[in-house]
Amino acid sequence: MGRAKKVVLAYSGGVDTSVCIPYLKYEWGVEEVISLAADLGQGDELEPIREKALKSGASESLVVDVKESFVKDYAFGAIQANALYENRYPLSTALARPLIAKALVEAAEKYDADAIAHGCTGKGNDQVRFDVAVAALNPNLKILAPAREWGMSREETIAYGEQYGIPSPVKKKSPYSIDRNLLGRSIEAGVLEDPNVEPPEEIYLMTKPITQTPDQPEYIEIGFTRGIPTNLNGEFTNPVDLIQQLNQVAGNHGVGRIDMIENRLVGIKSREIYETPALSVLIQAHRDLESLTLTADLTHYKRGIEETYSQLIYNGLWYSPLKAALDAFIQKTQERVSGTVRVKLFKGNATIVGRSSDNSLYTPDLATYGAEDKFDHKAAEGFIYVWGLPTRIWSQQEKGR
Ligand code: ARG
Repeated sequence: MGRAKKVVLAYSGGVDTSVCIPYLKYEWGVEEVISLAADLGQGDELEPIREKALKSGASESLVVDVKESFVKDYAFGAIQANALYENRYPLSTALARPLIAKALVEAAEKYDADAIAHGCTGKGNDQVRFDVAVAALNPNLKILAPAREWGMSREETIAYGEQYGIPSPVKKKSPYSIDRNLLGRSIEAGVLEDPNVEPPEEIYLMTKPITQTPDQPEYIEIGFTRGIPTNLNGEFTNPVDLIQQLNQVAGNHGVGRIDMIENRLVGIKSREIYETPALSVLIQAHRDLESLTLTADLTHYKRGIEETYSQLIYNGLWYSPLKAALDAFIQKTQERVSGTVRVKLFKGNATIVGRSSDNSLYTPDLATYGAEDKFDHKAAEGFIYVWGLPTRIWSQQEKGR
């Protein structure tokens, strides 16, 4: 009796997920392994990956293009929420996991599988995100994570795979662990494990070093409709193209590098480098447009929601009732967040230099220091008296007067 009969495996084409196929079949007694590779714009050729799964023993090899959904249903919501984990990481990897889980569950239901599987180890956040998302979407499915249990070293994993015709990697394996998709790259391990070592230039692919960026600034305009980026430089652009184009333009100016020590859900601190050119610029621009179109109290209250929202995405609770409730709040806040933000890209910086909106709450007559000033200065006196009253009473009480 195996642990499951028919399994849908999240497949990347790498050694670990390839080894999962014979391992599930011959160690865990799974009868049939169906692999699923998700196209998230990671830039890999997917046809060779599809074939490799079959050669490794999968009975069926699925490739699903989820790029558009990734941007529309996952990234855009995060932009509306200005989601930055620990105030810095725009969640480029974390956002992909619930989408991959959804594709796995849909395939499992279609092919009548009784489990899903993934190649995550027991140390990271991704295992949590997959497992919790699958449990939320279909609580009847089992979840198998061979790499969490097999205890093989890298060499042993390769040797195990060779027994079943899985070729050992031709190139020497990069010392880094890299996750890549349309929204960005996450890079860890190798020399980066020393938090005091500056990241070597070779790790970056989406962002140029400042020594090679243009010596002239570039101005771009990003148009938002209800908090969603809909056009770039005045042209309506489909979601995937918009992200791709903005990655190019911002990356060319070295924008979007993040080097941080982060707190994983499993309790460890890790050092991770991110490159997220488009996503970083979009969140910055979106937040700026909110400052023009939302009231003060709403803006301030939303900050707290954003913090919670970022944490729950990071911690694998995408399909949770709290997330759904916060979504309803955030969607309501976005009704008037439409307009255009002008951004200057130069030497690693994205600087907002202008913003405009039909829904702008900025009132020139009230803000001006010129003769047109309509603000009632005399009204300030009474306001300040009432505003400061509790503090005045506190002080009087203390001083006994
Ligand atoms: N630390 C990031 C997260 O938890 C990225 C994880 C994957 N990173 C990697 N280098 N493989 O979302």
